[in-house]
Amino acid sequence: MKLGWIGLGRHASQMLLPKLAGLGAEIAAVCDPAPDALSRGRLLAPAATPYTRARDLLAHPGLDAVGIAVGPAVHAELAPLALARGLPVFIEKPPGATAVQAEAIEAAAERARKPAVVGFMKRHATANRIAWNATRQPEFGALAGFLGHYMTAPTYFQGNPDYAGFYLHHCVHYLDLVPWLMGPLSGLRVRKHETAPGRLLLHLDMDCRSGALATLAMGTLQSRGAPVEWWQVMGDHRRVEVRNVTEVRYVRDPAFKVDDPDATLTEAADTLVWEPNPTVAADEDHKGYRALLKGFLARVRGEAADVPEIGDGVRAMRRLDAMRRSIDTGDRVALEA
Ligand SMILES: NC(=O)c1ccc[n+]([C@@H]2O[C@H](COP(=O)([O-])OP(=O)(O)OC[C@H]3O[C@@H](n4cnc5c(N)ncnc54)[C@H](O)[C@@H]3O)[C@@H](O)[C@H]2O)c1
Repeated sequence: MKLGWIGLGRHASQMLLPKLAGLGAEIAAVCDPAPDALSRGRLLAPAATPYTRARDLLAHPGLDAVGIAVGPAVHAELAPLALARGLPVFIEKPPGATAVQAEAIEAAAERARKPAVVGFMKRHATANRIAWNATRQPEFGALAGFLGHYMTAPTYFQGNPDYAGFYLHHCVHYLDLVPWLMGPLSGLRVRKHETAPGRLLLHLDMDCRSGALATLAMGTLQSRGAPVEWWQVMGDHRRVEVRNVTEVRYVRDPAFKVDDPDATLTEAADTLVWEPNPTVAADEDHKGYRALLKGFLARVRGEAADVPEIGDGVRAMRRLDAMRRSIDTGDRVALEA
C-alpha cells in the first residue's frame, strides 16, 4: 500500500510515520513547506518523493491513500481535495476548526465513497479499550455516570492567552471520548474559572440521552511534566477507572473482610488492575496510535474496522462548538440527536 503524507511536524515524525512503517505501509510521497521538517520526513521515509506543496503531492501517481497532520484549517482545506481525487484520508484531530468545516469533509467523503478516518486515538489506547469492554458486559449494569479530568499546562499560551488551540487540540479528544464511553449527548453546560490569563479551568456538565450524568474538568493549570488524565464510569455496584492511560481499575462488589480471618482476594469480586508491562522488549504502543493506523489501513483496503470516522469528527466538533458557545454565554446548549 502506497501512502502520501502531508505535514511532517512533531506528531507525524515522532508518532505516526514510525508506526506506519511498522505496519508495512510504504510512504511513497511526503510534503511539508518547512525545509527542516521535509528533511526529517525524508530521513523517516528515504524512498519517498518530497513535495513542498500539498496539491502536488495529491497528484503523485499511484497513491492508495493520504495522511494529513498539519492543523485544523489545513485539514479542512486538504481532506476534501484528497477525497475528490478518490483517495481515502487519515486526518489528525481536529478535523477542521469548526463543525461546518468537518461537515464539508464528511460531504466530500460521502461524494467520493471513501473513508475519512480521524485521529481520535484515545479510543484505541489499551487501557481505555479494556475499560470500554468492561462497561459493555451485562453484569456492569446500566451506565450511570462519568467523572473525569483532563488537564494541560498554560505553557501553550505564554504571552497569548487565546484558548482556541487548547479547545481544538486538547478538549476535542474528550468531546469524542466521553460519548464513546457513555453514548450520545443531548446537551452540555460549561462553567469556567480563569485564575490568571492563560490559566483556565472548565467544568463541563454533560447530559447523556440515556439519562446518565457526565462531569468533566479540563484546564490549563497543570504541568506537562506530570500527566493529569483520569476518568471513571459508574455502573451498578461496579465502576471502572483509568488513570493516565496506564492503569485500569475495575472495582466490583467484594465482601467485607474485617471480620473474616480467612479473607482473601476472589477472582469474581475483588478489584482487578491492569497496567502495561514496560519491561518487555517489544515496541508496544498503549496510547492507541498504532491500533488506530492499523484500522485506517484496513479501511483503505475496503475492510470493516472499528475506527473513528469523519461522522464521529463532525459530532465531536459540534460538541466543541457547543462548548465554546456555553463558555461565552454560561447557558446550557442543546445537541441535536
Ligand atoms: N492525536 C494526538 O494525540 C495528536 C498529538 C499531537 C498532535 N496532533 C495533531 O496533529 C496535528 C499536527 O500537530 P504537530 O504537533 O505535529 O504540529 P507541528 O506544528 O509540529 O507540525 C505541523 C507541520 O505541518 C507543516 N505544514 C504547515 N502547513 C502545511 C501545508 N499546507 N502542507 C503541508 N504541511 C504543512 C508545518 O511546516 C509543520 O511541519 C495537529 O492537528 C495536532 O492537533 C494530534
